[in-house]
Amino acid sequence: MSFDYRTGAPPADAYLALFETTGWNASYGASAEELERANRQSWHAVSAWDGERLCGFGRVVSDGVLHAMIYDMIVDPRYQRCGVGSRILSMLLTRCREEGIRDVQLFCARGKKGFYLRHGFVERATDAPGMQLSLSPE
Ligand SMILES: CC(C)(COP(=O)(O)OP(=O)(O)OC[C@H]1O[C@@H](n2cnc3c(N)ncnc32)[C@H](O)[C@@H]1OP(=O)(O)O)[C@@H](O)C(=O)NCCC(=O)NCCS
Repeated sequence: MSFDYRTGAPPADAYLALFETTGWNASYGASAEELERANRQSWHAVSAWDGERLCGFGRVVSDGVLHAMIYDMIVDPRYQRCGVGSRILSMLLTRCREEGIRDVQLFCARGKKGFYLRHGFVERATDAPGMQLSLSPE
């Protein structure tokens, strides 16, 4: 199967449908327009297309110098384990390398550790973990 890889934010409705395959929006409650704005305001974004069907996505938020954070690596379940996620991740990392970004971080979803280890990521030390504060609207 061959895919077309594009940069930038995908159309709002197509992205909402892909995002909903993850179940993450149960806690975010984000609209299609909000998701599109988040993608558009990202430093770099890559989407994978099977013809006119959006089947994969990933994005980077960055200061453009020191740090980059990968978010929303998503491949439609019908297209998983075909190499789409790996291709998107390597395109995101290539751009980070080209721009001289010093480190790239991400929060790994449950069960996906092997995928990121295979792409060179290492776990943070247990006494220096990643931390987060949820600021969900009331
Ligand atoms: C994580 C995710 C993006 C990976 O996307 P993907 O397109 O399935 O990734 P790939 O196909 O490149 O690799 C996935 C696995 O399939 C294997 N694979 C790749 N091509 C393959 C092929 N042609 N045949 C069989 N297996 C293959 C890879 O070895 C890899 O194994 P690993 O998970 O043990 O590393 C995808 O599982 C996903 O969207 N999950 C739901 C959302 C999520 O949890 N995202 C992660 C947020 S941190």
